[in-house]
Amino acid sequence: MTTTTTWTVREVPVPTTLDAPDAWLLLGANRVRTAGTVDVWGSADLADSPRAELAELRDADAERTVRLVAVADDADDGDRGRAVASVLGEATVGLPVRDNRHSAFVLVNVLPEHRRRGIGTALLDAAAAVARADGRTLLMTHTSDRVEPPAGPGALEAPTGAGRVSLQNPAVVWLRRAGWRLAQVDRRSQLDLPVDPALLRRHADGAAAAAGADYRLHTWGTDVPEQWLEEYAGLLAQMSTDAPLGEVDWRPEVWDGERVRAQERMLHDAGYELLVTAAEHVPTGRLAAFTNFWMPSHTDEYVHQGDTLVVAAHRGHRLGMLVKTANLAALARQRPSVHRVGTWNAQENRWMLAINVALGFRPAGVSGTWQRPL
Ligand SMILES: CC(C)(COP(=O)(O)OP(=O)(O)OC[C@H]1O[C@@H](n2cnc3c(N)ncnc32)[C@H](O)[C@@H]1OP(=O)(O)O)[C@@H](O)C(=O)NCCC(=O)NCCS
Repeated sequence: MTTTTTWTVREVPVPTTLDAPDAWLLLGANRVRTAGTVDVWGSADLADSPRAELAELRDADAERTVRLVAVADDADDGDRGRAVASVLGEATVGLPVRDNRHSAFVLVNVLPEHRRRGIGTALLDAAAAVARADGRTLLMTHTSDRVEPPAGPGALEAPTGAGRVSLQNPAVVWLRRAGWRLAQVDRRSQLDLPVDPALLRRHADGAAAAAGADYRLHTWGTDVPEQWLEEYAGLLAQMSTDAPLGEVDWRPEVWDGERVRAQERMLHDAGYELLVTAAEHVPTGRLAAFTNFWMPSHTDEYVHQGDTLVVAAHRGHRLGMLVKTANLAALARQRPSVHRVGTWNAQENRWMLAINVALGFRPAGVSGTWQRPL
């Protein structure tokens, strides 16, 4: 069937609630983004709820978000169902506020049945215009493959030499034609729960023995205990410099307690919960390592493994394994319904990958980070 729908790019207004008359644009954008996620990954684990996307749009503490949509010109905003379905493509523009003000992150999704009609290009051009108007000089984006392609003519290798993306991926074809460059490849990994209790205990005991008596574990939820607020902010800042970046031009993030608290407010608004385990170095009373899970509200079966970091001076004591095994045990107690954990790691980050592989994470795809100067 050929369709001749014409469409127009519009900015998504920030609705007061998801029931507000103008909320259909955000609901339509959410529907397109979810369809794109399911198309790539075969599941909605990585999708977000409309509630979370509204919270993202409202929050401007560390990143301002602009959302654009391509809407069919025959949209009928008197009929909410039809209006939502008239959104054919969407773009998200993330504009860091506290640091990395040279960059803008963009992501474009077009409903699979409306591709190859110029919608993606129009949205990307409009997103670039938003970034340029805000003084940004670098655009970044991601592409995703459910399977990492084998080395050979069908694959494009990361400039780090670790990881490949598929040259058959339409987004890869599209970005290369528009002059984008691949900067790094991340491996997606998935762990199916429950982890064999004997394996978890063996790794936890081995790590505790290697760490010795100088470290004490603390586990908390979304809100960091006041005692650890500034320390935790310091660890989040280190995360931005210590994880391998390949050729990605990502500069040190600026974190303080106030930014952490603002993020917590956004997470409450979005319906996300965190589960954090940190290791205190008892002789100094400082945090030496941490790991966190991001638990979305749209599913009780999946969580995202977020950051894990061991402070440089404390590496080599198996603290990464120590905090990860403790956080997995806490997750099993608090959310026994969770059956899948997903995560991303730079394909060249062999230390982090080694811990994940030992715990049972298996490769589940790749994501390329792309850049283009503006
Ligand atoms: C990437 C994506 C946004 C492109 O949207 P689109 O509306 O199909 O893009 P356009 O119609 O503007 O395509 C522009 C050009 O890209 C190239 N291209 C796009 N899809 C292609 C495909 N499947 N095969 C070969 N070339 C393709 C072509 O050169 C095309 O021009 P042409 O149709 O005149 O030959 C869409 O495929 C998508 O939503 N993918 C999933 C989301 C994603 O991966 N986004 C990450 C990048 S931000």
